[in-house]
Amino acid sequence: MDSIIIYFTLLVHNRHIAEEIAERENCELLEFAAGSIFRVFQYLMGKKRLAKKAKKINVDIANYNEIIICGPIWGGKPAPAIKALLDNLDITGKKVRCCFTYSQDYGNSEDIITSLIQKNSGIVKEIKFNKISKE
Ligand SMILES: Cc1cc2nc3c(=O)[nH]c(=O)nc-3n(C[C@H](O)[C@H](O)[C@H](O)COP(=O)(O)O)c2cc1C
Repeated sequence: MDSIIIYFTLLVHNRHIAEEIAERENCELLEFAAGSIFRVFQYLMGKKRLAKKAKKINVDIANYNEIIICGPIWGGKPAPAIKALLDNLDITGKKVRCCFTYSQDYGNSEDIITSLIQKNSGIVKEIKFNKISKE
C-alpha cells in the first residue's frame, strides 16, 4: 500500500468520499478528528492544539509516498483542520492529492493549498473540488 487518505469531516460527506477512494484505490484510511463532536468550534480552537494533533500523524504517514487529503471548505477556505494537516505533516517529497467539498464557493482555495503544499516541500499531484448538493 503506497497511499494513505486522511480526512476531516463535520457533516460526514468527506467520510463517504474518503471511504470510496480507499476502497477503489486500496489505500489506508485515517480520520483526523480534531476535537471530536466539537469539531465545528475549531474556529475557536487554538492553532497549537490542531497542530499538535496533526503532528502525531507523522508517525503513520512516514511509509507512504502519496498522501490524499479530503475535507470541507469553510468560509471560502479549506477548514482549519486541513490547513493544520498540510502545515504540520511531514510531506517532504511526497505526492499530495486533495479533495474538497463545498456547497457554494471555494474562493481561492486552490492557490492556498498549492502554496501550503509547496512551502512544505510536497508535490502537488491533484486538487479537486466536489460540489455537494444537499447539506
Ligand atoms: C462553518 C462552515 C462554513 C462553511 N463555509 C462554506 C463556504 O464558504 N463555501 C461553501 O461553498 N461551503 C461552505 N460550507 C459548506 C461546507 O463546505 C460543507 O458543509 C462541507 O463541504 C460538507 O463536508 P462534510 O460533510 O465532510 O463536513 C460551510 C460549512 C460550515 C459548517
